[in-house]
Amino acid sequence: ENVTEGDRPPEGTIEALRAAAAGCTRCPLHCNATQTVFGEGPEDARVMVVGEQPGDQEDLAGRPFIGPAGRMFDRIAEEAGLERDGLYVTNAVKHFKYEPRGKRRLHKTPNTGEIRQCRWWLTGELAIVKPKLVVAMGATALTSVMNHAEKLGDYRGRFTDLGEGQRLYTTVHPSYLLRLPDETRRQEEIARFREDLTAVKEAQ
Ligand code: URA
Repeated sequence: ENVTEGDRPPEGTIEALRAAAAGCTRCPLHCNATQTVFGEGPEDARVMVVGEQPGDQEDLAGRPFIGPAGRMFDRIAEEAGLERDGLYVTNAVKHFKYEPRGKRRLHKTPNTGEIRQCRWWLTGELAIVKPKLVVAMGATALTSVMNHAEKLGDYRGRFTDLGEGQRLYTTVHPSYLLRLPDETRRQEEIARFREDLTAVKEAQ
């Protein structure tokens, strides 16, 4: 399924885009989320890292990748020699989608329509930051960047030419590593994720 949206958000600064996104009602996810969680990082970053959507802690704090998945990302990125401060870090979907379960809010994967509506903002971020390398973490980010529903396995660990001197690199989402129940398998997958981020470090 194609997820194209014709129009683009206004070009300008990330601050202006962030302010506009704060009032976003392009899809129903804004109704139950605390706030829009916009991307952050240097406006001239060479690498843009794209995740799926904010989690519980990100929704409350208003910042991307600060919860458990963010800590996993930060740790492995640092081991790979990547400085988080040098990266522009964002998400394909900018409102937290969840299902209430008692006192907890359980993450729900965004659907194609939500990815399509929110792609408006990612397109705006890409137009301003103009990264040389876009890193998609997980299938939602991959689908949004490619503007088409794609399988992670077809792209993982590879560079894809996006045109205009820009490349995509695809890896798993750090939450996937946190969910693996088998410890041996988990360590293997963490090592593979570290190799992926090392490839990003070497390419940047
Ligand atoms: N998972 C994501 O994809 N993004 C976040 O910001 C946090 C968790």
